[in-house]
Amino acid sequence: MSHQRETWGGRAAFIVAAISSAIGLGNIWRFPGVAFENGGGAFLIPYLVAFVTAGLPILFLDYSIGHRYRAAPPLAFRRLDRRVEPLGWWQVGVSYLILTYYAVVIAWALSFFWFSFGRQWGDDAAAFFVNDYLRVSESAGLTADFVPGVLVTLLVVWIAAIVVMSLGLRRGLDRANKITLPLLVAVFTILVVYSLSLPGAWDGVNQFFAPDFAALADPTVWIAAYGHIFFSFSIAFGIMLTYSSYMRRRSDLTGSGLVVAFANCSFEILAGIGVFAALGFLAHSQGTEIAGLEGISGPILAFVTFPTLLTEMPGGAIMSVLFFGSLLLAGFTSLLSIYQVVAGAVQDKTGWGSRRTAVTVGILTGVPSVLLFSATSGLNVLDVLDAFVNNIGVTFSAVVMLVLTAWVLRAIPQLSRHLNAISSFRVGRFWRAMVSVVTPVVLGVILVSGATAYIRDGYGEYPSWFVALVGWGSIAFLAVFSFAMSYRRYRRDDAEEFTADDPEELAGEPQARGARGAGESGPEADEGRS
Ligand code: ALA
Repeated sequence: MSHQRETWGGRAAFIVAAISSAIGLGNIWRFPGVAFENGGGAFLIPYLVAFVTAGLPILFLDYSIGHRYRAAPPLAFRRLDRRVEPLGWWQVGVSYLILTYYAVVIAWALSFFWFSFGRQWGDDAAAFFVNDYLRVSESAGLTADFVPGVLVTLLVVWIAAIVVMSLGLRRGLDRANKITLPLLVAVFTILVVYSLSLPGAWDGVNQFFAPDFAALADPTVWIAAYGHIFFSFSIAFGIMLTYSSYMRRRSDLTGSGLVVAFANCSFEILAGIGVFAALGFLAHSQGTEIAGLEGISGPILAFVTFPTLLTEMPGGAIMSVLFFGSLLLAGFTSLLSIYQVVAGAVQDKTGWGSRRTAVTVGILTGVPSVLLFSATSGLNVLDVLDAFVNNIGVTFSAVVMLVLTAWVLRAIPQLSRHLNAISSFRVGRFWRAMVSVVTPVVLGVILVSGATAYIRDGYGEYPSWFVALVGWGSIAFLAVFSFAMSYRRYRRDDAEEFTADDPEELAGEPQARGARGAGESGPEADEGRS
């Protein structure tokens, strides 16, 4: 008798969950800045190339592994081949590290949502954010000097996340996604339309789309495009793999993937237009060019540049509430999806229920998150950790996953049959060529050049001991964690006894009663919770 695994309510619930995960902090503050720094309109070319050669192929690969082996990454990879379990734990480790700092950016958004009502940042948003709010320590180094304003909001974020996750997949995650996604789209559309009506807005949009083709010769532009696609699509670090493991057996995997991918890209482009329209307005009101503005990327864009322009904007108080509200909504559901990777892996390993798992994982992640990121050194730690985990941790995970599945285990034909058994869009030679040859080669080059640059030049202005401790230390943590966790036995009796579906049989199964399409049907339509 196989373990009764919780499933999404239907195809729509899965699609909403996957879109809610993909649309996150990355779309609103990361994409516009990355695009602007890397060639403006010309960035859309590497972005689209990365989308076609890595985004979609790895999204489908994640879906095929998660759905076929019906588990979070460690057990899914173990079921594929028991020697591959450490790769699953590497992905869980990456999610764990991202989770610790993703929560603090949401905590800042929560504080700024509150500050919006009185626009408390005043005339100098940079000084407010860095000195008054975060109280960033002058020298790089770890401090135990906690900032109460950050600490309290971070605790609120963790408690909210633990409560939602304790309710389980359908009562917690599914409901949270179904409330926040439509709200986010509505709020963000109002923001973009309003921004476009401001003086100078269209100059900003034109700059966003103005191509600097010379940038295409710069390899770092391509690295940025691939890195962003992974982060934004929530691929190669376990999220989409885990989410697809809760889909019903007879599910339209690729059709759903296309909907998710295009929704995410559309929102990203919309965010780019909205952000640049707003920056165009700021440049116009300061009598300068966008290129002359400071802080168009990362935390500074959202927490310094935006508050500055919201102070100058007519109707800025309402727009501030809407902007930080959007960041909160987008970020919170992505946070839950990252949490689910860790929770799903722990649940598979221990057989615990969702509440016990959610609380245990929440405490084990929340405590280091609060200790590290509500201290005055939090911003510096976040900066280094984010760079190393994304540029090395996630890219390494993607390369190893592709090489192992395609070349060592030769699992691609089997996975493509699984994808094609039910799906409306069939993958063929193009997908196989991408995941077997093109994507691993491109990502391999990116990984080696990125790692070499960090070894040679360090990172940013930070002292080398700090980069070694936080950056390389996090990579060492991932390596030790992956193997240490793989040593532990699975407590659930049925974890190892698993027979994957035969794609031909799956395709030939009759539709379940009341089915509204391939994605809605399945013998486990009435499966209970685990
Ligand atoms: N995909 C999520 C984001 O863009 C993690 O923030």
